[in-house]
Amino acid sequence: MRKYTLNIFKDLEEASRALAEALMAVASTAIENRSRFSLALSGGSSPKPLYKLLAENQYREQIDWAKVEFFWGDERPVPPDHEDSNYRLAKETLLEPLGIADQQIHRIEAELPDKDLAADKYINEIVEALGLGAGGEPPSLDVVLLGLGEDAHTASLFPATKALLETQRWVTKNLVLKLDAERITMTPMLINRARNVFFLVVGENKASALAEVLEGRIDTVRLPAQLIKPATGQVVWFVDEAAASKLKKQTDAQK
Ligand code: 6PG
Repeated sequence: MRKYTLNIFKDLEEASRALAEALMAVASTAIENRSRFSLALSGGSSPKPLYKLLAENQYREQIDWAKVEFFWGDERPVPPDHEDSNYRLAKETLLEPLGIADQQIHRIEAELPDKDLAADKYINEIVEALGLGAGGEPPSLDVVLLGLGEDAHTASLFPATKALLETQRWVTKNLVLKLDAERITMTPMLINRARNVFFLVVGENKASALAEVLEGRIDTVRLPAQLIKPATGQVVWFVDEAAASKLKKQTDAQK
């Protein structure tokens, strides 16, 4: 893994609080400089305390949430009210409590039967939300939030899946055989355009994957999270002690 900052915390609560502070700092600067903060949310269970925290008064009042554009790094092939929906998780814990307007919420329609159409529609959603020209340069989102699976997947970039090889598209479908699911995911190319990539990884069950991704041999087919290496953006890992327990180096890597 190339240059990154590693922050190790006692537990998920501490990591979530530090991540909330980091998000507010980036958001304040983005809104001040560009009158907008573009944020791609991650799915899974780890971000739930973070989303709840951001909806609490101390953060609710810190930035102008009306200037935030919400995206997702990936989505499962389920309707938006399904218990597995990454959108539903964020809607219930963050977007509804903050009263975010619909036009700021850019959901991936991963439930559509035609997954190519779902991916194309999301690309158009990103273009329109950020006022880009069609066919223009991919955007640099201010923050892409990511998790890490026990198999070292991130977003819906799973080991040995086709999306790992996608170098042109911003968003693509991705058939994940072991889940028997065709998901929609931002591609490594789009994620790597981000100004900031924040990983949130907690739990003993992630320790092997984290150590392999950060300190193991480069093998992006087996360890997709190693594909995340923004050309100019920064990568910051927010991890707990349990997830960091197999790291040889418990410090930043500046190589
Ligand atoms: C998803 C997520 C995925 C997630 C990891 C970690 O849609 O599942 O985008 O990449 O971040 O699987 O999930 P947990 O936080 O639940 O361990």
